Amino acid sequence: MTTDEKNSQETTSVKGTAQKVAELQQLRAAATLGGGLRRIEQQHSKGKLTARERLDLLLDADSFNELDMFVTHRSTDFGLAEQKIAGDGVVTGYGQIDGRLVYVFSQDFTVLGGSLAEAHAEKICKIMDLAMKNGAPVIGLNDSGGARIQEGVVSLGAYADIFLRNTLASGVVPQISAIMGPCAGGAVYSPAITDFIFMVEQSSYMFVTGPNVLKAVTHEDVTFEELGGARVHNTISGVAHFSCSSEPDCIGMIRRLMGYIPSNNLEDAPRIVPTDSPRRTEEALDSIIPDNPNKPYDMKAVITYIVDDSEFFEVQEHYAANIIIGFARLNGRSVGIVAQQPRSLAGVLNIDASDKAARFVRFCDCFNIPIITFVDVPGFLPGVGQEHGGIIRHGAKLLYAYCEATVPKITVITRKAYGGAYDVMSSKHIRGDMNYAWPTAEIAVMGAEGAVNILFKDELDRAEDANQRRKALIGEYTEKFAHPYIAASRGYIDEVIEPRFTRVKLITALEMLKNKRDSNPPKKHGNIPL
Ligand code: HXC
Repeated sequence: MTTDEKNSQETTSVKGTAQKVAELQQLRAAATLGGGLRRIEQQHSKGKLTARERLDLLLDADSFNELDMFVTHRSTDFGLAEQKIAGDGVVTGYGQIDGRLVYVFSQDFTVLGGSLAEAHAEKICKIMDLAMKNGAPVIGLNDSGGARIQEGVVSLGAYADIFLRNTLASGVVPQISAIMGPCAGGAVYSPAITDFIFMVEQSSYMFVTGPNVLKAVTHEDVTFEELGGARVHNTISGVAHFSCSSEPDCIGMIRRLMGYIPSNNLEDAPRIVPTDSPRRTEEALDSIIPDNPNKPYDMKAVITYIVDDSEFFEVQEHYAANIIIGFARLNGRSVGIVAQQPRSLAGVLNIDASDKAARFVRFCDCFNIPIITFVDVPGFLPGVGQEHGGIIRHGAKLLYAYCEATVPKITVITRKAYGGAYDVMSSKHIRGDMNYAWPTAEIAVMGAEGAVNILFKDELDRAEDANQRRKALIGEYTEKFAHPYIAASRGYIDEVIEPRFTRVKLITALEMLKNKRDSNPPKKHGNIPL
């Protein structure tokens, strides 16, 4: 064959560059359709977005780089050979949120119900490994029927590969899970290991064992929503951190959360240019504490008076309302806030409040976010239910979390700080860096009434004018102990401040503590009471 003949043959049998590019575009277009138009319509008819539509909303415009678009499964059993769809039911890659790198995966329910098996999990593991190497958060949008039944134990192994990575990444890069559809069986444990779980009302649910199995095994008759919907996990179980009214709302909240947290454990959270004056004082705070110590007030109002632009991003708003946790900024710096809410159970510490706050304190400590604690706590909740439920173990979690935390810790006692709860709530003794008290603070072993009833029981039993005498003794005790000055005289309180200056004091203290270095003794890890 002459050279001319050969060249002419190549041009006829081998695709040219333009053809190859066109082919790539076709393959991409086909992959982008996932399970096909009919299933996309089904997804939309349920009021749900597709995996790619969700990523479009989550990431900055044109920032998404998809990886592994053409990955398919390698299974042949139960008809899977005929159901090879590019991407294998999950869209993965990296992109940006407000210009910051994030790794993402978004399960595609239109492909085999978003079910997870070997190839699907390998894609997720790949972006998790990249996230760890490059120090950026992982955001997972979950919408999946769980382990791909046709792949059997391989699917279980694939899940475990993810669980391991979730655990190794914990405390290194932030991990965020959004539940946007079903999440059942062991599949719930990957989100459960991550730092924050967002759920969408009416279209997402999480449970280990579903309603059908429950009916057969325990004869309990519940709907998906009643068993593991957004409301349940945000109010009763405490599994989820955010309840969102719609998918766009959910994605907007994830983007907002990202603004408060750093990309990894070696960085600080992004600082924004403040628009609120660091010298702003707030007169209303001087009269916010009622004269009657048993009267509640709204601690959220205290927080919003103090933080930048009154913007408080509350976490677990609907769970254990007696303690408030969330993020805010002070002079542009991100802070984690923990505060009692006197409006709910008088701000008492119980099992749920201890768990809620402990996990939040640990998150802030992992990710270099200073913790501001507002204290108004009458103590731990008494009761057989609490004791038998393990308030000792759960309360110890919060104590442990505050003790081990080495980020800047600033405490403001607004009113009550009684008993063990005084110690727990970021007191000076457990490495509180700056401990402030308002003049309305009452720092004592217990409230005056309780103390008098115990200390003077015999005398009061015998007294003819017991009520009169009790009142006098309560007055005496209150005079002697229900104030911040004994604690201040010992240096347990660094400064007693007028409430109106709280914002100024917190900002000045944060500035003073910005290069704080503290550490714990070297160890493999501690043994927090779980
Ligand atoms: C393979 C699955 C699947 C799964 C759904 N599909 N789940 N394929 N493995 N796990 C497929 C369906 O066959 C269907 O395919 C398509 O996805 C859509 O599912 P539908 O049932 O039509 O959707 P819907 O009515 O919305 O119901 C969704 C569902 C239901 C509630 C999630 O599909 C379901 O109950 N799936 C099984 C859930 C489950 O038991 N998973 C295993 C959990 S155990 P076609 O082709 O018909 O459209 C587990 C262990 C993990 O996950 C352990 C980790 C340690």
